[in-house]
Amino acid sequence: MHLQGSLRQRRQKLAQLFKHPVVLWSGSSCSRNFRSNTFPFRASSHFLYFAGLPLEQAAIRMEAGSLELFMDEGTPSSALWHGETPKRKDLAEVIGANADFPLLDLSKRIQDAATIAVQSESVRQQQSQLLNRTVSETRSGLDLELASAIVALRLTHDQSALEELRLAAQVTVTAHLAGMAATPTAQRESEIRAAMERVIIAEDMSCSYQSIVTVHGEVLHNNHYQHPIHTGDLLLADVGAETPTGWAADVTRTWPVSGQFSATQRAVYDVVLAAHDACIAKVAPSVEYQDLHLLAAQVIAEGLVDLGILQGKPEDLVAMDAHALFFPHGVGHLLGLDVHDMEDLGDLAGYEPGRFRSERFGLCYLRLNRPLRPGMLVTIEPGFYQVPALLQDPARRAKYQKVVNWERLETFADVRGIRIEDDVLVTESGHEVLTEALPVKPEIIEQRVG
Ligand code: GLY
Ligand code: MN
Ligand code: MN
Repeated sequence: MHLQGSLRQRRQKLAQLFKHPVVLWSGSSCSRNFRSNTFPFRASSHFLYFAGLPLEQAAIRMEAGSLELFMDEGTPSSALWHGETPKRKDLAEVIGANADFPLLDLSKRIQDAATIAVQSESVRQQQSQLLNRTVSETRSGLDLELASAIVALRLTHDQSALEELRLAAQVTVTAHLAGMAATPTAQRESEIRAAMERVIIAEDMSCSYQSIVTVHGEVLHNNHYQHPIHTGDLLLADVGAETPTGWAADVTRTWPVSGQFSATQRAVYDVVLAAHDACIAKVAPSVEYQDLHLLAAQVIAEGLVDLGILQGKPEDLVAMDAHALFFPHGVGHLLGLDVHDMEDLGDLAGYEPGRFRSERFGLCYLRLNRPLRPGMLVTIEPGFYQVPALLQDPARRAKYQKVVNWERLETFADVRGIRIEDDVLVTESGHEVLTEALPVKPEIIEQRVG
């Protein structure tokens, strides 16, 4: 559907769920040192969802399905440094706004409006001042009601969102293939990162999160790229594209630098792949996402027992969270305008009302605990890691002393971190893997690298 039509439909749906005026700010860029040397600007996702364009220093007011755009025209000085900006009227037309005003006029139209706190501190102060009350991440009253209504809308994706998400997925697949192809001649992680991000940047997209491209996959969110890569290393790449209007992909592959997995790497890769495949096969409406997490835990526990790393009955091992020693994170999360979609709202989106985070080691990092519904996009991303902070922790070592064969584990020293992550859309009849074009089979990955 045409962008304007989708935006109108989103606003109308919001009006059905929430009867009060709503004001959403886009945010503004943050200076690095002097005012016009800024960190890259990223508009608030809630603003993007209803306004469709990454406008800076703008706000929208919505009521009963109508939309007003508040934004200042470019100044002669901004035209000098940054070029002409489109006229507010023209932008208003593109997004189907019913009216448009300078930003200052917002103060006259803001009474009794609900809002969502933006990430940027200075804009949040502006929100609080104009609304004459505190706007914070701890939502209450109408703001909480609004957040719940927006969650209800953003949990499942409409056609124009899906078009964007497919584009992000497609470019991400190409980026990963480029990373594999660049590996044989690369000396350092940074060169592989560059080959991957080049593809994304060349499409005029950006990265939906800081890329992880590392031979130290055991550091779960490793954002350093200086390590030399050596034959015998596994390279873990978690890189995703974001379209210009903010829709994200989130994909991980792990490949051998040499183009050939060692026997130990291949054995563990097969365990992670079995968990990945088993979970994806089960994605369908009404399936509880937590059950997918527990399925991944079960398959990983079974695989590690077969490899002699864990000992005992897999069910018992999962019950005591022994799998989490090697798979310490959740099996995935919501994906949409954000990677970890809507986590600016805490667990409001990820957790069904009345459900809360478990304190169990094997469940506490699970970010999604809802029954799946058609139109939801989730990641499936099981992994295996040898994290020194977990494996050397005296309390954990004592607790799991008897169920880990520590000597046997030492023979798997060349498997520091493996993750396989795909973006899976829940459909009426089951699922569709938006990133399916990127190989996961070890033989094909070897060919792509070698
Ligand atoms: N790229 C971050 C994650 O997979 O959750
Ligand atoms: Mn992810
Ligand atoms: Mn990821």
